[in-house]
Amino acid sequence: MALDPRFTATAIQGALLAGRIQRRYFRTNLAVEKKGPIDLVTAADLEVEQAFRRLIAARFPSHAVLGEETAAHSGDSQKTHRWIIDPVDGTTNFAHGLALFCVSIALEIEGRLEVGVVYDPIGDELFVAERGLGARCNGHPIHVSSRATLVDGMMVTGFPYTVRDQPATQIEVFTAFLRRARAVRRLGSAALDLCYVAAGRFDGFWEVQLNPWDFAAGILIVTEAGGRVTDYAGAPVKMVSSQIVASNTVLHQAMLDTITSSR
Ligand code: IPD
Ligand code: CA
Ligand code: CA
Repeated sequence: MALDPRFTATAIQGALLAGRIQRRYFRTNLAVEKKGPIDLVTAADLEVEQAFRRLIAARFPSHAVLGEETAAHSGDSQKTHRWIIDPVDGTTNFAHGLALFCVSIALEIEGRLEVGVVYDPIGDELFVAERGLGARCNGHPIHVSSRATLVDGMMVTGFPYTVRDQPATQIEVFTAFLRRARAVRRLGSAALDLCYVAAGRFDGFWEVQLNPWDFAAGILIVTEAGGRVTDYAGAPVKMVSSQIVASNTVLHQAMLDTITSSR
């Protein structure tokens, strides 16, 4: 069945609304609170999520919303349509005045990702993907890179907020990529990392301990742009699973091998 066009329109409207709120707070003296020793939440995160919840409640009252900043409602698991929002992905960058953050919005219908939208309000880049219809950035079709060897590849990763208490494995994987790839970056926004793989700027991305709001939209954007996304074992990423490897498809096996060899 064809996707209701109101779904993509709503995701885009929500993302642009989020972008306006983020721009209003960015580089102001904004309130920052700590959810953990290094895990932050700002007034912008909360305002964006509330605004999006209001938009969905008004337009699609029967839909569920999973957001980073609000606990799930009971009964949500029975709903066929679920919106997944990260109100600010890249909160640490945002709180420090670094212009690398976005909002990430996805719609899942009966457990399948159908729409993914990521908006970077400072770079003014709107990434949109609909299942089966490809991925676009500001209306132009995007595609993953065709680089075929890791030594020519530019890779990106991220570290979870628990990194300080983790065994050294994540650093070993990082080192293995440093040794094999042209370059490795850590930007601080998993959703943008995924969009940049989709746009061919990066050739691959990996990270552990991500949550659905970090990657739901980005997974669809990468796969619709011709890329591949799996967990570290090469299996499809489940919404509860937290490991992710995203690539231009050609480099996927080399990335999985690099991760396996260093763990
Ligand atoms: C974080 C960012 C970061 C990643 C962390 C995420 P947040 O999300 O995506 O790049 O390394 O694992 O938690 O907290 O800025 O929404
Ligand atoms: Ca996030
Ligand atoms: Ca966030």
